[in-house]
Amino acid sequence: MGTISIIGAGGMAAAIGRLATRAGHTVEVISRDTAKAQVLVDRIGTGATTGSFGGTPAGDIVILAVPYSAVLDAVGQYGEKLAGKILVDITNPIKSDLSGFLTPEDSFGAREIAKVAPADASVVKAFNTQNASVLAAGPAVVGRPLDVFIAGDDAQAKTRVATFVESLGLRPMDTGNLSMARTLEHACMLWLGLMTHSVKHGNFSIGVSLHG
Ligand SMILES: NC(=O)c1ccc[n+]([C@@H]2O[C@H](COP(=O)([O-])OP(=O)(O)OC[C@H]3O[C@@H](n4cnc5c(N)ncnc54)[C@H](OP(=O)(O)O)[C@@H]3O)[C@@H](O)[C@H]2O)c1
Repeated sequence: MGTISIIGAGGMAAAIGRLATRAGHTVEVISRDTAKAQVLVDRIGTGATTGSFGGTPAGDIVILAVPYSAVLDAVGQYGEKLAGKILVDITNPIKSDLSGFLTPEDSFGAREIAKVAPADASVVKAFNTQNASVLAAGPAVVGRPLDVFIAGDDAQAKTRVATFVESLGLRPMDTGNLSMARTLEHACMLWLGLMTHSVKHGNFSIGVSLHG
C-alpha cells in the first residue's frame, strides 16, 4: 500500500479517499482551501493527511477530483510538480444543462489534460462513470465489485491504477488507450440520460455483466 494524493475535497475525493484508507493506503487530501481539506481528513480519519495546494504531491498517483472547468488551470498551476506522476482524470467535461461537452469538438477532457500536464506525467482516465454516492456506499453491489473503466496510453501507469482500483475492492476494466477516454466521457452522458429518463434516481451504476 502506498500514498495516493487527491486534489479536491468534494464528494468524489471523500468517496475514493475513504475507500483508499480502508484499504490501507495513506491519502493526501489537497484543496485550495486548507480548512476544507482538514474537514475531509477528519471525516476520513486514520490514514488521511492534508497536503499543500500547488506543492509537490506525495503520491505517485494523483487523482484530479476537481470540476473539469477547473482542472486545466489546476494542472497548469502545478506544472512540473506533477512531473513523473500518474494523473487520474475522473472529470466529466459535460455542460451543466447536459446539452453537450465543454471540450473542443476534436478533443476530449483527458486529452486536454494531457496537453497541459508535464510531458513525463501519464494521464489515465478512471472512476468517471461511477457516482460518488454509489462508490461511498461500498465497493460491491449485488454480490460483485463495481466496475471502474480505465483508459490510457501508458501501459505501466494503467496497471498501477488498475492495481489501486482492485485494492479498493472495485473491478478495474481496461477499455484501451487514452482515446477511449472520449467514450468514457460519453458514458457519463449515458448515465445522466438514464438517470433523467429511465431510472429517475442516482443510485445505480454502469457495469459489465459477463455471461460465461
Ligand atoms: N459526483 C459524482 O458522482 C462524480 C462522478 C464521477 C466523476 N465526477 C467528477 O469528479 C470531479 C469531482 O466531482 P465532485 O462531485 O467531487 O465535485 P465537488 O463535490 O463539487 O468537489 C469539487 C472540488 O473541486 C474543488 N474546486 C472547484 N473549483 C476549483 C478550482 N478552480 N481550483 C481548485 N479546486 C477547485 C472544490 O473546492 P471548493 O470546495 O473550494 O470549491 C472541491 O474541493 C468532477 O470533475 C466531476 O465531474 C463526479
